[in-house]
Formats: sequence, structure tokens, C-alpha cells
Amino acid sequence: MKITIRLIVSLIFVVALVAVIFSFYQVSSEKDRLIGELDRRTIILAESLQESVKPLVNSNSIPKLNRIVERFGNRERLKGVIVYDNQGNILTSTPELIPKISQPLPEVVSSITENQPIDGFINIDSKKTYIYVLPFSEEDKIIGALAIFHDASYIDVRLKGIWKNNLIRFLTLTMLIVVITLLVVRWSITGPIAKFSEWMRELRLGKGKSSQPDTSLRGDMLAPLISEVTHLAKSLSMARARAEEEARLRVQAESLWTANRLKEHMRVELGGKKLFLVSNREPYMHVKDGRNIKCIVPAGGLVTALDPVMRICDGVWIANGSGDADKEVVDANDKLRVPPEEPAYTLKRIWLTKEEENGYYYGFSNEGIWPLCHITHTRPIFRLDDWIHYQKVNEKFTQALLKEIADEEFPLVLIQDYHLALLPLLVKEKRPDVKVALFWHIPWPNPEAYGICPWQQEILIGMLGADIIGFHTQFHCNNFLDTVDRFLESKIDWEQFSVERGGHATMVRPFPISVAFEATVSDRKAVIQEKESLREQLFKEIGVQARYLGIGVDRIDYTKGIPERFRAIERFLEKYPEFVGEFTFVELGAPSRTHIKRYRDLTTEVEEMVDKINWRFRTKTWRPIVFLKAHHSHEEINRFYKVADICMVTSLHDGMNLVSKEFATSRDDEDGVLILSQFTGASRELKDAVIVNPYDIEQMADAIHLSLTMKPDERSERMKRMRTAIKEHNIYRWAGDLITELARLRTTDVAS
Ligand code: F6P
Repeated sequence: MKITIRLIVSLIFVVALVAVIFSFYQVSSEKDRLIGELDRRTIILAESLQESVKPLVNSNSIPKLNRIVERFGNRERLKGVIVYDNQGNILTSTPELIPKISQPLPEVVSSITENQPIDGFINIDSKKTYIYVLPFSEEDKIIGALAIFHDASYIDVRLKGIWKNNLIRFLTLTMLIVVITLLVVRWSITGPIAKFSEWMRELRLGKGKSSQPDTSLRGDMLAPLISEVTHLAKSLSMARARAEEEARLRVQAESLWTANRLKEHMRVELGGKKLFLVSNREPYMHVKDGRNIKCIVPAGGLVTALDPVMRICDGVWIANGSGDADKEVVDANDKLRVPPEEPAYTLKRIWLTKEEENGYYYGFSNEGIWPLCHITHTRPIFRLDDWIHYQKVNEKFTQALLKEIADEEFPLVLIQDYHLALLPLLVKEKRPDVKVALFWHIPWPNPEAYGICPWQQEILIGMLGADIIGFHTQFHCNNFLDTVDRFLESKIDWEQFSVERGGHATMVRPFPISVAFEATVSDRKAVIQEKESLREQLFKEIGVQARYLGIGVDRIDYTKGIPERFRAIERFLEKYPEFVGEFTFVELGAPSRTHIKRYRDLTTEVEEMVDKINWRFRTKTWRPIVFLKAHHSHEEINRFYKVADICMVTSLHDGMNLVSKEFATSRDDEDGVLILSQFTGASRELKDAVIVNPYDIEQMADAIHLSLTMKPDERSERMKRMRTAIKEHNIYRWAGDLITELARLRTTDVAS
């Protein structure tokens, strides 16, 4: 209210000031005009009268003078005329004037003395009267004077009228100002502010139905403020969701998930239904080995995470058969039961032509989307031809899936990763009853970074065919929703973290993926003994004598920060020379996507670095880096995990990174230090790792030193806590959460 009063008072003050100045100016110019007019009229009258009066005064003809004065005396507003002789004595006068005027009149005396006409105002009967005295002469000798008296009271009446009119105008204006100000303030300020604060209050109390205020408020003068606060509200919702998520995880952590529990859970949730999983990468790949065929498990987190789930849930895993002996081991329907040693689920293989593989896998997926989603300064390449193949192959996967689910009612489908972004919509278009979850294993960038993709809308629309879209972290969910908000017409609910488009809703949720970890060690002593002999054996195998062992396990990919890691090792040896001859780092690097030049160049770069660093520091019996460039089985990798003093995960950007979790999981001795990049999803969960910025070589060198000199107790404490975190959030919980959410979707929502 105070501001309204202040506004009104200031407006009135300004209007009053303008009114006074304007009126004053108007009055004074009107006064000048009226007096001027009166003056002119009187002069004309006096001069014409003087012509008649002058000869009569000269001849002293008083009766004639009387008649003239009488004749002139009764004009409008003329009070009278007096004729004087040269001594200022009255010769003749309008009779009424004589008693009202004191004699001699100073104006008359001055006019005769100075021989000049004089005018001025005097009061007669308390009325303002204008007097004009005109002397007249004969042969340069003053013979008399003529005084004319005019009623001037009408001038004051006119001027007062102007003041009065202006006062009325001012009062009317003041009234209007008060009313209009009150209305405008109410409509445009206090009303919207009241609505706005009500919305904010509801938001604060978590009762808000919407994360955006009433649309009527958005176009108003409060728009910039509202837009800022809307962002704030969004952040609040996100923070609240994060807090709820953490609380939920804490509560959930109270009961551990195991393979058996997941099995039982799935039995209840799926009610005998099969699970359908679709990914590009297959879990088991058959390759030629001389005349034989061997089965390998491809490197990468997707397979590591999902194979244990499929083993429990059974069902069908549809994937691209990319092994050179894959066709030789499938049945007539391109299927086989896997794992080979203990069949538990069906693998259905899809065949791609060379052109399709080039365009869809190497081209669009790995030269386009992969660098688009990983912020590592490798430029994405988008080619129309690749995009066409990407669409075709997504269609191909759709046909295969539709065939598999043809006889199923409300089947549950889990689509994996960025290779199959269009699949959710393609499936839904044909089978609206399918419950579809899409899990995105890599990061999701912010809208600016994503915006360079020429098919930005098509990809988002394809993905939004899913009922649930999962990312590893809440941060990636937020980025995704921001991206949808930026590029698609849709309704985003920041409270529920869902997107509604064309009558279909998609939930966007974090499901941090993990590994199959549930066991606890009974005999730690035996584990430690075994470790010592394995360590010796491994050093022998790699032909190195050293005291400390570091390990890195990666697909050779530019997102993994392998050159940065080696640079840090080199710097560490420079900075802490006492470790020269003592510390060896083994890199188990699986060649990956080698048809892409960027990957081939990276391999060359890494090999050259290894050569250079080894050349610089090596001794007869020792070298700092052992680069084992090959595909390694889980068993082989596990041997290194088990004995390493440190494991380095230095990704420049990584959705989750399961190497970090596998390393901790394999450490039944509760020893070993994990050095972990802050740019991995895993760093949000494994807080007891030594967290590093892989771009900071100096910091990484110090982190290696810190890890190798860390007290055994601290190492053990950290490792125990990391293992507990993974055990509580293992892959069984991930699958349990995701599949439960999917299975419990209402069938009416799914089909809408
Ligand atoms: O990290 C993303 C991802 O697709 C994983 O899900 C998978 O384990 C890895 O890349 C392997 O990539 P590719 O299938 O190209 O070998």
C-alpha cells in the first residue's frame, strides 16, 4: 500500500506543479492582453476627444465642454471624463466623478508638468479603475489636460475565473490519477504478485501442481522475474527429486538385492512373462580361431551389466550378430541359447550388411551420436547417408522385435543405448500395448551441445516413444528434459520428471547401472595368500620386476583419457623418482571401433606414448608401462584387478564406467586404491575413490603418489565403503527398479 500512496502523492505533486505554472502563465498573459486592449481603446478615445475639447478650452466655452463630456460619459465601462486647465483645475467633468475623486490627482499633475500622457489604476468606489491622462497644447504651450476613467474591475473577474477553472481541472485530474493508479497497481502489480507468491508458496510446500506459474502472469511486467524464478523452481524440483532419490536409496539399501531376490521379484512382477531386451552389441560373440570357433564376451559395460539380469529373467536378447562365426552357430531362426556353458536365455541375432554397419554403427552411432553426447572435444560428424542407414537399421531391429513379441500381450521391452534411439516410437506405432523402457548408457549433453545435431527432433521424438527413459544420473535426466524443452513442442512436468507429447507420457528417471555383486568373503586370509602368489605370477607373465602394480582396463576410446593417464604416469616418475624401477602400470586395452580413423589414430598415439615413456625410464628388468592391446576375457582381467595396488579410471566423460565398480567388486581382500575421474557417473557413488580431474596431469601424478603411499588402514576403509556402496546398489537392484517401474505402468497409460 505504501508504494501506491507514494506513487499517487508524487503524481499529484507533479500535476499540481504543472497546473500552477501553467495557470500563472495563462493569467499573466490574459492580464497583459486585457490591459493592452483597454489601453488602446482609451488612447483612441482620448485622442479623438482632444480634437473637440482643445478649441473649446482655448475659447473657454464651458457650456460646450459640458455637453461634450456629457455625451461621451455614458459609454460602456466608461466611468467618465474630466477636462482640466493648465493649472490642473477642473473645467468640466462627468458629474458622478467629482465627489469620488480627491483633487488634485497626482497623475494629472505629473502629466501637465511633464507634458506626457500618463496612465495607471486607481480605486473608485472600491472598484479598480483605469485612468488615462492626455495633456494638450497650443503653440508649444500646455493649455489643459483630458482624463478618461474606465471601469477595470472586469479584468480581475476574468483572471479569477481562469484560476477557478484551472483548479477544477486539477481536481478532476487528481481524482482520475488516483483511480487509474489504484486500478493499474491492482491489475498489474499487486494482483500478479499475490498470485505469484501463492504459486511460490505451494511450490515451497511441495504442493504445487505445476512447476510453471499461471500463463496469465507470463506476459506481464513481471515476466523477467517470473522467468528467473521459474528456473529457480526447476532447480528446486531437481534438488528435491535428488534428495528424495537419495532418501529412497538409503531406505532401499537397508535390504540387499541378490540374484535370488531378483529372480523371485521378477516371477511376481512379470507373472510368467518373458523379458525382451534389444541392443546393438550382443552378449556373446562367436569368432573364428584358426579352424575352431570360440565364444567371447565383448568388452563394455552394457554386456557386463545386462548378462546377469538376463540369466535370471530368461527371455530374448535381440542384438546384431557381429562375430565372423556368428552365423555358424545359430538355428533356423537365427537364435541360440546362451551362455554356452550354462544356457539361461535366448540370443536372437540380426544381420547387417557391410553398408548398414558402416552407416548405422560406425557412422551415425559412433562418429555422430557418440562424440555428440561425450564432451571430449572430438567433433561429431553427421552424414545424410549414415542417417538413412541408421533409420533403416532401427527399422530392421523393429521388425525383428515385432516378430518376437507377436504372441505376447503387454510385453516388456528394454531397449539399450544410443544405437536404437528411434526404436521406441517405431515399436509403439505398431504395438501401442508394449511397455517400453529405453536405457541410455552414455551421458546426455546440454541443449546447446545437442543442438548441433541436424536430426535433433527426429531422435528425441523416436526416444519419446518409450514409456520410461533411463539415464545413469539425475544430471543427465535434467539435461535430457532441458533438451526436449528446447527442441520439441511438449509438456514437461518437472515435478514428476516426465514429458507429455501427443497424448503419450514418458517418465525420465535415473537408474545408476552397476555390476553383479552380492558375495561376502568368508576366508580373507586365504584370499590374501592367493593374491601374493598371483601377483608374483603376473609380474613374471609380463616380464617385469616391480614392487607396485597399477592397472587400467578400457576399450581403446578417446573418451577414456588413456593418453592423459600415461602422461600422469610419466610425470609421477619425474616427480617421485624413488618409484622408478618400483611401479609398473598395465593397460589392458581392447581395440574398439577400429574402422574409424579417430580410433586408429588414438591407438597409434597411445602406442607411441608408451614407447616414448618406456624408452625414457626403462631398465633391464623393469618398464613403467605394459600395454596389452587385445581383447581380454573377464577372467583374465579379474586376475589383474585382484592384485593391483591401484586402478586408474581417467575418463574425460563417461556415463557410468563399470571398470571402477568391477575393480572394487573383485577386491575380496578389501585392499587397493581406485583413482577415479570426476567426469564419470561412478564418481557420484564411489566417493571413497581418489577423485581426479583427468585434464590436470599434475594432480593425477600426485594422486598416484598418494594412492601408493596410503596407509593400509585407510586403503582398507575406503575399499570397504566402496564395496558396500556397490553391494547395496548392484545390478540386481538396477534391474529390479527399472523392470518394476515398467511392469507397474498402467496398461491404459502405455497404450494411450
Ligand atoms: O558405454 C557405451 C557403450 O555402448 C556401452 O554400453 C558398451 O559397453 C560400449 O559402449 C561398447 O561399445 P561397442 O558396442 O561399440 O563396442
